[in-house]
Amino acid sequence: MLGVSQYGQMTAGSYCYVGPQGIVHGTTITVMGAARLLGKENADRLVFVTAGLGGMSGAQAKASNIVGCIGVVAEICESALKKRHEQGWLTEWTDDLDEVMNSIRKYRSEEVEPKGVSIGYLGNVVDLWERLAVEDDIPVHLGSDQTSCHLVHGGGYYPVGLSYDEANELMANDNDEFKEQVDASLKRHVDAVNEVVKRKGTYFWDYGNSFMLNAGRAGADIFAEDGVSFRYPSYVEDIMGDVFSLGFGPFRWICTSGKEEDLRLTDSLAEMVMNRHLEECESIEDHDEQARAAKGCFRDNLKWIREAGSNQLVVGSQARILYADAKSRIDIALELNQAVRDGRLSGPVAISRDHHDVSGVDSPWRETSNITDGSRFCADMAVQNFVGDAFRGATVVALHNGGGTGFGEAINGGFVLVLDGTDDAARRASMMLHWDVFNGVCRRAWDGNENANLTVTSEENKIPDLAVTRIHDADPDLLSKIVGE
Ligand SMILES: NC(=O)c1ccc[n+]([C@@H]2O[C@H](COP(=O)([O-])OP(=O)(O)OC[C@H]3O[C@@H](n4cnc5c(N)ncnc54)[C@H](O)[C@@H]3O)[C@@H](O)[C@H]2O)c1
Repeated sequence: MLGVSQYGQMTAGSYCYVGPQGIVHGTTITVMGAARLLGKENADRLVFVTAGLGGMSGAQAKASNIVGCIGVVAEICESALKKRHEQGWLTEWTDDLDEVMNSIRKYRSEEVEPKGVSIGYLGNVVDLWERLAVEDDIPVHLGSDQTSCHLVHGGGYYPVGLSYDEANELMANDNDEFKEQVDASLKRHVDAVNEVVKRKGTYFWDYGNSFMLNAGRAGADIFAEDGVSFRYPSYVEDIMGDVFSLGFGPFRWICTSGKEEDLRLTDSLAEMVMNRHLEECESIEDHDEQARAAKGCFRDNLKWIREAGSNQLVVGSQARILYADAKSRIDIALELNQAVRDGRLSGPVAISRDHHDVSGVDSPWRETSNITDGSRFCADMAVQNFVGDAFRGATVVALHNGGGTGFGEAINGGFVLVLDGTDDAARRASMMLHWDVFNGVCRRAWDGNENANLTVTSEENKIPDLAVTRIHDADPDLLSKIVGE
């Protein structure tokens, strides 16, 4: 016992942060999911407009390149933008909106390669949206925002009309005026987004940065007709919540040998498992709704794992992230354990996951925001998850606060399990991973989520001993009779 505390946030809190590939993978899954909501099979050459090339938001540029869309990303800070360009995540940049428009037109053409590009606009995102609103020949399919709106008056969001330096100076010298300009900018920002959505049928989503919350507080036209809910969905409500409810989430592993060739082998073993499970889904999809729903997730993640090596996202530890469902996580772990045992891998593999998952976090403003039965404000899922993982044989467990939405706003349960090639490691991985995923799937099923209920039913059919308590909707006629009486 060291008697110290740390500001651990999410994966860092359970010592399982694996660098930027976590956010890049999560962003690719989100953009592909958003394209699917528009009825598209893939995101090829779709125009995706957003802002932010900072710590996490920079992943939007790299994800655009990976999924094959045309990412158009505004960034007001020159050094942040240039960093992403130099590192190869941002294909090209300019501070001239005419050039941005011409680049979009060029990349929309079928003849130009590559189809996945990211165009940086060095300037304010409000100017970008206002310009797009009047360019009739340019479509905007997807739209979002990843400025640091969670710190909207503290330098997280830069108001239109001021340069980066001017805004910082105003913030330091006349904070009240700065706040007024931020609020006015948010109003213009939302007006321009609304106009683009109206004219071009854009699918716009809130990316967990409190953009809509703070735009609403600033008096922007961001509310739906009921005056309470927002016009646009959060990415968890519309996209990731349903992915989590199928049991898919950010499984990850680290090759303790530190060898690149070990990671390559683990990638190919994971690909083999995911491919097998996709084929199983395809063979039963005609009569199995769960398989039909899960098929897209398998396809998205197969694309990711096949290209993972060439995307060169490893920083430090030889680690990989891959959204997988319970069965795939277990089967991948068993394959990895077997490869450690027979010496194909030169050292043990540690498995873990991000907390931005089906069951690892209670976070009412983000991951559990699509749990609508009132229980999203409870902190029980992460605690049960952590305790259940400990009992089933995790090597390390962690229960910690904060993460993404801020300290005091979320609670996380995390684990690490070392696969050392033994039968015991295989037994523990099978038990623990099943609990780690289904704990959250069941919680979502109790809320009435359709994907979660399909997933629980499908699991009960596979495992006869598994009995999950299910919700039963009240008969409305009976209810009104009782209330009436
Ligand atoms: N959904 C998720 O999975 C997820 C993950 C990570 C972060 N986030 C949220 O996304 C936000 C961004 O995170 P980050 O780590 O990239 O922060 P960051 O501060 O490093 O980057 C934000 C960038 O936005 C730029 N910016 C601000 N206002 C602008 C404007 N009006 N026009 C153009 N550019 C502007 C800033 O210069 C900055 O570089 C945070 O609120 C964070 O909580 C969401």
